[in-house]
Amino acid sequence: MTKKIVILPGDGIGPEIVMQAVMVLHEIGDKFNHGFIISEQLIGDVSLETVGCSLPDKTIEKCKESDAVLLGAVGGDPNVNKWKDHPEGDRPEKGLLKIRKELNLYSNLRPAILYPQLKDASPLKSEIIGNNLDVMIVRELISGIYFGKKNRTVNEADDEESFATDELFYSKKEIRRILKNGFEIAQKRNKNVVVVDKANVLETSKLWREVTAEVAKDFPDVTYSHMYVDNAAMQLVVNPKQFDVIVTTNMFGDILSDEASMITGSIGMLPSASLGDTKLGLYEPSHGSAPDIAGKDIANPIATILSVAMMFRYSFDLEKEARAIENAVGKVLEEGYRTKDIYTDGDTLVGTAKMGELICERIENNE
Ligand code: IPM
Ligand code: MG
Repeated sequence: MTKKIVILPGDGIGPEIVMQAVMVLHEIGDKFNHGFIISEQLIGDVSLETVGCSLPDKTIEKCKESDAVLLGAVGGDPNVNKWKDHPEGDRPEKGLLKIRKELNLYSNLRPAILYPQLKDASPLKSEIIGNNLDVMIVRELISGIYFGKKNRTVNEADDEESFATDELFYSKKEIRRILKNGFEIAQKRNKNVVVVDKANVLETSKLWREVTAEVAKDFPDVTYSHMYVDNAAMQLVVNPKQFDVIVTTNMFGDILSDEASMITGSIGMLPSASLGDTKLGLYEPSHGSAPDIAGKDIANPIATILSVAMMFRYSFDLEKEARAIENAVGKVLEEGYRTKDIYTDGDTLVGTAKMGELICERIENNE
């Protein structure tokens, strides 16, 4: 099998973690006899620097022609507003939002899985976290407040007349397709969905609840409930094991997935898959570009490597290959190797490149 893959290394630690993920791709190619045609394209800060915009048309075209896209990270230092004077108001993150939209990737899967080997890295007490945790966050990705109308009104003389708005918009169609996806995923897991919202305040959340009741009728084997987002944030640290699949809006999913990832030890472990109606998916770690640690060979490449496993599973339907990657990660952790973010006393500390190499060495084709 030969697949066309676009890699978008992006900013900060993006290039170094993507490099390790590409090594893993080649390792799978060798061991399972697959070929990959890899094309590297621009996105984010590096793209603004190189061609003046965060997402060149060429990147969009190449991604649309590909079978899957692997992205590193996008964004610069959050404390420096480097692009504030850009003539079109462009900034690195816009490139990421636009590519998600261009490829119609409305469903973002963020599996928060605790590897038993990492339970000491979790900030939660062992009574709460136990030996394993497996929560799938299904985040709506191309609507909601991220994509609603934005406005800025400036009146230098009057603060009350100077304001900004971000509209929170959801159509029934957008809500239905993400919920359907969440219920389908739950059907293959423990058959439980929690829809996270703020229905005590937001009109959009009320609509989400109505659509949930409609969608749920087609999934009689799946149980579901609703939870307010503030409570969900709390429940994730008090009793994370109650969750199987969480389905939620773009904004709430962004926030809760960071929280869920830390519970499992480190945000450096959380992969993601962004999917739409076709097999073309975009795979990226859930973490950001971490400019403070970029180029130091200390970033954890595992989230990106596990995103490659998701690529094999969801875009290529190659489950054995996906498992081979996940098993190799498990083995490396079992043997005590850790990057700085998941290191505890007694472990063997390794850098980004070494971690990638160790994982590659442990990839096996057992069949
Ligand atoms: C993520 C990131 C992005 C998001 C940023 C970089 C725009 O935080 O993928 O979670 O908010 O979607
Ligand atoms: Mg985020």
